[in-house]
Amino acid sequence: MKSVLFVCLGNICRSPTARALFDARLREAGLTIETDSAGVADYHIGKAPDPRSIRHAMDWGVDLSAERARQVQPADFHRFDAIFAMDRDNLAALERLAPASATARVCLLMELAPDYGLDEVPDPYYGGAEGFERVLDMLSSAADGLIEALQSQSGSR
Ligand code: 4NP
Repeated sequence: MKSVLFVCLGNICRSPTARALFDARLREAGLTIETDSAGVADYHIGKAPDPRSIRHAMDWGVDLSAERARQVQPADFHRFDAIFAMDRDNLAALERLAPASATARVCLLMELAPDYGLDEVPDPYYGGAEGFERVLDMLSSAADGLIEALQSQSGSR
């Protein structure tokens, strides 16, 4: 796997946080993977992440300030090896947007962390601080799962 796209609804809370957190973790692990994030909706195109996401991520040592929202494009289904959806609504929207010739594997992000016990990363947008912290905790487990998978892949080659 060489490239991954993280997808949520607005691309201002969960998926830009995923992109920046995974980038930081992958770098620490010495792995080089192209990452990006996008939203299935067009509400926030061009905008910076939600200030609450920026603030909570900063507490986890992750800097989101350079991220800018964009919408998923048909070309993404060829450009990325894997597209990770935060929740089932995002996954259903991706399935509607995917061209018939799509090559990317599209799945729920939390498939990377099956032991976490939750399969969707809940939308924190209309809630309080604990929702933003839960997003970071879940993404952190998923990042551990991806790194383990990549390391066992390269070790078995
Ligand atoms: P995200 O959160 O999908 O994690 O970026 C949301 C951001 C904005 C909206 C919904 C969810 N909104 O309805 O504007």
